[in-house]
Amino acid sequence: MARRPPPPGWSLPDSRASLKYSRAAQEMNGLEEGVEFLPTMNPKTVEKRGPKRWVVVTVVLIAIFLFSLLVGLLVWHFKYRNVPVQKVYNGHLRILNWNFLDAYEDSSSSQFAMLSKKVKSTVEEIYRSNENIGPYHKETEITAFSEGSVIAYYWSEFMVPKHKAEALDRAMANKQSLMQMLTLKSRNPALKVESVVAFPADPSIVQASRNNSCSFSLHAKEGEITSFTTPGFPNSPYPNNARCQWVLRADADSIISLTFKTFDVEPCSEGNDYIKVYNSLSPVEPHALVTLCGSYPPSYNLTFLSSKNVMLVTLVTNAEGRRPGFRAEFFQLPKIKSCGGTLKGTTGTFTTPFYPAHYPPNLDCTWDIEVPSNKNVKVRFNLFYVLEPGVPIATCTKDYVEVSNTKYCGERPRFVVASNTNRITVQFHSDQSYTDTGFSAEFLSYDSSDPCPGRFTCKTGRCIDKALRCDGWMDCSDASDERSCNCTKEQFRCSNGWCKSLMWVCDGVNDCGDNSDEEQCKCPDKNLKCRNGKCIPEDQKCNGKDDCGDGSDENDCVGAAKAVSCSEYTYKCRSNVCVSKKNPECDGTPDCADNSDEENCDCGIRSYSKQSRIVGGLDSEVGEWPWQVSLHVEGQGHICGASLVSNKWLVSAAHCFQDEMRIRYSDSKLWTAFLGLHDQSQRTHENIQKRKIERIITHPNFNDFTYDYDIAVLELQSPVTFSKVVRPICLPDPTHDFPSGKDLWVTGWGATSEGGSGATILQKAEIRIINQTQCNSLLANQMTPRMMCVGILTGGIDACQGDSGGPLASVETSSRMFLAGVVSWGDGCARRNKPGVYTRVTHLRDWIKQHSGV
Ligand code: ARG
Repeated sequence: MARRPPPPGWSLPDSRASLKYSRAAQEMNGLEEGVEFLPTMNPKTVEKRGPKRWVVVTVVLIAIFLFSLLVGLLVWHFKYRNVPVQKVYNGHLRILNWNFLDAYEDSSSSQFAMLSKKVKSTVEEIYRSNENIGPYHKETEITAFSEGSVIAYYWSEFMVPKHKAEALDRAMANKQSLMQMLTLKSRNPALKVESVVAFPADPSIVQASRNNSCSFSLHAKEGEITSFTTPGFPNSPYPNNARCQWVLRADADSIISLTFKTFDVEPCSEGNDYIKVYNSLSPVEPHALVTLCGSYPPSYNLTFLSSKNVMLVTLVTNAEGRRPGFRAEFFQLPKIKSCGGTLKGTTGTFTTPFYPAHYPPNLDCTWDIEVPSNKNVKVRFNLFYVLEPGVPIATCTKDYVEVSNTKYCGERPRFVVASNTNRITVQFHSDQSYTDTGFSAEFLSYDSSDPCPGRFTCKTGRCIDKALRCDGWMDCSDASDERSCNCTKEQFRCSNGWCKSLMWVCDGVNDCGDNSDEEQCKCPDKNLKCRNGKCIPEDQKCNGKDDCGDGSDENDCVGAAKAVSCSEYTYKCRSNVCVSKKNPECDGTPDCADNSDEENCDCGIRSYSKQSRIVGGLDSEVGEWPWQVSLHVEGQGHICGASLVSNKWLVSAAHCFQDEMRIRYSDSKLWTAFLGLHDQSQRTHENIQKRKIERIITHPNFNDFTYDYDIAVLELQSPVTFSKVVRPICLPDPTHDFPSGKDLWVTGWGATSEGGSGATILQKAEIRIINQTQCNSLLANQMTPRMMCVGILTGGIDACQGDSGGPLASVETSSRMFLAGVVSWGDGCARRNKPGVYTRVTHLRDWIKQHSGV
């Protein structure tokens, strides 16, 4: 080591003298060097030794620093590095040399106690033999047994220093090593054990099995349905901060079918209440079948199947919320031996097992389909729900359907897979966890030379009408009907090559997909397009001045709503102040200083938080449209629809109440309103509220010829009581904006096809607002400002006869629904390029208020 020369002005003996007791100094000079004492005879010299004090201070500081470092390290080591964390695992293992006894189902039986002692000591032995597990094990408890020969379920608790936790996780996750330890070291020959697995568990759920206060065990009875409910159901809400579990069992070689008959817990959101169903007696993620939250209408299929004779249902609740909970039923079924099979003939249908219930986990089915040898075969999946949470549909790593070497999963609209031989094989695979509704499919034979006689064949195999080729609409799901087209005179050529109707240019909707049909109608750069079409410089937006002239540059500003000058498009508070926010009414934020935008907002909310999927048509769920009213006329049944807007008032269409030759439809005595109705054939259901009509007020400007001002308000003879299935819809402010392209819902019991008969179950359809100018040209200039076109221009979806007067509902922010329109008229029903026409409620809002007070 190089020694640094002493700094100038220092003499070595001096410094040495000042460090006379320091070890460092001793070492520096070698041990043999003697200690030199200060020349005490010369006090002057002592005083002059300046550098000595400096060094003392430095050394003391270093010492303090080292000492605190040491203390810090010790504190970290004992307090943080070694801080023990709790870890809980759920596991199960299979005992090969043991027979299952019925008494094992009862955890208080002596047989249960005896076997669990044995299993416990085996598990403890496994743990002991692993240095990463053994030292931290605190407790293991056997929670249940099931057949096969005997499967034992348990949880184990560990207290492990933080820095060892990962090693513990790894050791517990390693099945092989757990098994190996057992075979190598087992001194417990009484039990022959295999497939030991453990998964990290949520300690709070384990808590549930420890404390028996909300733990239930049920065994299916042969040929009987067993039901169970959340505590207190239906008279009181289930408890807060609860951990409940239901152990469901069936006889050996059976499986369980579980159905939630009513289901209403807190809405789905992080930290809220939920129910989880497992295909095991251990609440572990790899065996979870479904997580349920929110509420479901009674008509929704919530049936789940197990792959073995056990199932576990758990309920986890937080500190808030008062909800009724669920009522569930289960029964046993023989285990399915095989599924799939050989299908022959020219056509036929097949589905996943138990469709439309959720298919069981752990299942593989193969259908070998064969049509006559001179034909080819295709398979059409009419409904397809094979969705597993978190699995990308590109990979289909968990549940899937495989046809001709392609895997399909997720939720898919109807699709076709064709083969160019007379055979095709469809395989279905479901893994351990999470199941779905499955599919319903049919197979069809076709001529190889002409797969779609007289029609156009999509690349996907689907057949469509020849007229649909190159018409600007994608009728084939892969758009093969719109490729390599020559655009006609009536069409616009998009930059990307598609041909689209010239009418769609500049209609505010990106029809090309690359926006090229809308580019040319944009305002110049750094300009804003007003609702009246005017272009203004961008920096004039939200400057508090009406630069557009219609207020549209001041009605949609970010940040807190400001008071602005009033115009056609700005919302006016009760105080007559206008605010700079679009559609502020009932959006959950007070935007008016007097709060008037958030008053009278008990409307537009549906009772069921689940947006259900439509299975087999467009049937609504019970309670999905609680403002929908069915208006009946004595002796004629359902005639028109209407919407409930308060407990006494309905909004409907004026044309429903026009007198005809023999019937005076304008006479309120003729009419009866049914509220809470779902099925026209069941008008006596307890949910239904039936009211006579006190008064019908039709708009004085209603024109029987043009259908302009097609609106009416109806007063009920007595108010209704709001319930799950009877609730009002929100009425939009006159300034409310429903932009072109927005999706809305129309509902009703009208005809299900042009000239057809009415529906018994309330129908729903999602349709889109069409630009007014475009619509006017599609409908021979019959549009007035009181009308709005809404539909699907490809055809196929629309309102029809009998839907009149009914609601056209729009979902706004805060998920409230607003009445955007009233079903009024149409050119036929669901025809291509003939959208339905609706009364524009915003334009008649003031009239509604004036006559109904709502
Ligand atoms: N006027 C019809 C009725 O009385 C409603 C027609 C709606 N038609 C349509 N295509 N959207 O029920």
